[in-house]
Amino acid sequence: MKGLILSGGTGSRLRPLTYSNAKQLIPVANKPILFRVIESIRDAGIREIGIVVGSTANQIREAVGRGGRWGVSVTYIQQDAPLGLAHAVKVSRDFLGDDRFVMFLGDNVIEGGISPLIAQFADSEWNSQIVLTRIPDPRQYGVAELGEDGRIVNLVEKPQNPPSDLALVGVYMFDANIFKAVNAIKPSWRGELEITDAIQWLVRNNYHVHPYVHRGWWIDTGKREDMLEANDLVLEEIKYGIEGYVDRESQVGRRVMVERGAEIINSVVRGPAIIGENARIVNSYIGPFTSIGNHVTVENSEIEHSMVLGNSEIRDIGTRIQDSLIGSHVVISRSPIKPKALKLSLADYSQVGIL
Ligand code: TTP
Repeated sequence: MKGLILSGGTGSRLRPLTYSNAKQLIPVANKPILFRVIESIRDAGIREIGIVVGSTANQIREAVGRGGRWGVSVTYIQQDAPLGLAHAVKVSRDFLGDDRFVMFLGDNVIEGGISPLIAQFADSEWNSQIVLTRIPDPRQYGVAELGEDGRIVNLVEKPQNPPSDLALVGVYMFDANIFKAVNAIKPSWRGELEITDAIQWLVRNNYHVHPYVHRGWWIDTGKREDMLEANDLVLEEIKYGIEGYVDRESQVGRRVMVERGAEIINSVVRGPAIIGENARIVNSYIGPFTSIGNHVTVENSEIEHSMVLGNSEIRDIGTRIQDSLIGSHVVISRSPIKPKALKLSLADYSQVGIL
């Protein structure tokens, strides 16, 4: 069995972060989402992984390399334009050959424990297995309708009137019959070849598509709030410990990871939280559900329920920063120069909330 990770796309909903970062490389609890996806596939015993890349191909190649770090072999597949998830399958034909495969969206974070599911599909006679989860309002997702016998009756992409609350999670398993489907379907109203339509084609043509209802959490990190929610959930699962330095004046909670080279000076850190390698927290408060990236400095400031990516600086901010997604190399500081005013230098699509 092979693995296929989709890491193309435009990530337009996460601008401005995605002007400089591939969405899949944004770290959740200080580890890029894509690395978490690679680990899930590797943990299912798969060694050959194809990564579909688009305009951010160079960044992804540089971050992942050939996969040796995870004990897998990575092949890159270029998709010239983000023409849909089924299009990404189509362009991966040479890599996949006739093997069964699991396809993961490179920006989805799913609670552990799906390796047995993948292994089960590898040994099954099913043509496909899809993973579903219950969502109160699934209008933004592919939605499945199951019959009384538990089999799939119908699948629709982003329906106005969802036939059920069962949304498709970004993990799919297929055999080579999926190529018949992706070649048969036509682009949707948004001009994309939809994977939901391809799976619906399999169902209509009597291929066996097995639905599995996932009971843990799953986050599609398309937007800022999703990213923060994924960070919250992953921070509850990480390994905690103090590998850096904490001085005597500081209080660090039990569910905190202080990574190598990090320093906590005269500060309070309440978990769950992670303080990245070589970060410096001085005279500050880091509240629950916060990820402080590598080489970040927080001085005389308070921050909680936020993500700060690498090499940023937050200094002398009197107001608590909350619910924020702060990119890398960002500087937030108090200006000593009069007049007392906000001085902003923001990228396109930035959002700032001021009291
Ligand atoms: P989406 O989140 O649906 O699309 P996107 O990344 O372009 O984001 P936005 O809508 O904000 O512009 O994509 C899901 C995943 O699949 C993501 O990891 C990107 C990847 N993808 C491809 O690799 N090829 C494609 O043609 C598309 C549409 C997505």
